[in-house]
Amino acid sequence: ATAVLAYSGGLDTSVAIRWIKEKYDLDVIALTIDVGNDRDLQSIARRAEQIGAVKAIVVDARADFVRYFVWPALQAGAIYEGQYPLATALARPLIARLLVEVARAEGAVAVAHGCTGKGNDQVRFDVSIATLAPDLKIIAPVREWSMTRDSEIAYAAEHNIPIPVTNASPYSIDQNLWGRSIECGALEDPWEEPPEDVYAWTTSPWLFGRPGGPPIPEPTYIELTFERGIPVALNGEEVDGVTLIETLNPLAGKYGIGRIDHVENRLVGIKSREIYEAPAAVVLHAAHKALESLTLSRDQLRFKELVSAEYARLIYNGQWYSALHQDLAAYVQSTQRFVSGKVRVKLAPGQFAVVGRQSEHSLYSHSLATYDTGDQFDHNAAVGFIKLWGLPLQTQAQAQLLPSLG
Ligand code: ARG
Ligand code: SIN
Repeated sequence: ATAVLAYSGGLDTSVAIRWIKEKYDLDVIALTIDVGNDRDLQSIARRAEQIGAVKAIVVDARADFVRYFVWPALQAGAIYEGQYPLATALARPLIARLLVEVARAEGAVAVAHGCTGKGNDQVRFDVSIATLAPDLKIIAPVREWSMTRDSEIAYAAEHNIPIPVTNASPYSIDQNLWGRSIECGALEDPWEEPPEDVYAWTTSPWLFGRPGGPPIPEPTYIELTFERGIPVALNGEEVDGVTLIETLNPLAGKYGIGRIDHVENRLVGIKSREIYEAPAAVVLHAAHKALESLTLSRDQLRFKELVSAEYARLIYNGQWYSALHQDLAAYVQSTQRFVSGKVRVKLAPGQFAVVGRQSEHSLYSHSLATYDTGDQFDHNAAVGFIKLWGLPLQTQAQAQLLPSLG
């Protein structure tokens, strides 16, 4: 019998290949999924086979990741606790679905992942897998074994498991197209400034122009075209989503844009400090929001704020495959019908700004807004409006509040 393991090529999942065989007597099929992790996936697959996997499968899931997970989250404005664009959290339900699909195709009886027992990711995987395929056994070796890092290394040596060099890093890192998540090491002290070596996608803005630092980059403009809330062109040129994000990450990252330092609330009740690098996500969310400010009504914007927060929470909390998600997604799609147009963004050292937006569905009316000639706003109507708007306040103040209003 076999188990399908989500294999990253790191120490944990490398050790897991042998451990699953020993503990459960299951042959391991290693499944390595490309969601934009920037690794040599073929050599990772070869390593899995060297260690003893009976089969190593590589899937390029970048296009699906962007189309079915990243863009809907962008359209929803899903940012957890106002800070985290949810890169890691969004990839989990996709990986869970692929684990299930491969398990079905291969006739496996179990699926396995390398999450610890104190994070969000175990919840996202387990809940998604159990929802899609309740009959599959779920194995989480790192949660089940009581090995420290040192005993893992000793176990690896004993079983001739090649340890990847990247494991010299003191940090726990997860990365995909939508962002890079870094925790552990010095970051566990929330008072400690993040050491320079946690960053890989972004230049430190305070190093620009310093001795030994990079030269100060000239500001630049980019133009993003959206159709129904989805970015479809960069600087007037049509691009697919994967290319757009892969272009924007280094472009904004070299200005030092997209760094996030977040003490967040995990679903399992722990506060944890995580550093994120998400240059494309941060710029695209700001640009998308700017276009919505032009094309959605005041009431739609106000209500969508509530939906965005709920949407972010359900992604973070592992509820992707839920009816609540389907309901909120239908609402979000409806809001995006007229979110088409262009946004101009200025990138500068350590900061960026939306400096222009336009849409053929714009609700902005120059003749209503202007203070110059051509003003069509009815100033006299404002007087009557103010009278009725203030009426309940006046009434209540007379009856109840005057003594307390000073
Ligand atoms: N805290 C983030 C989340 O729950 C990222 C988790 C993975 N982070 C990591 N450094 N391995 O989505
Ligand atoms: C893990 O514990 O596997 C990573 C951190 C998290 O899931 O929150």
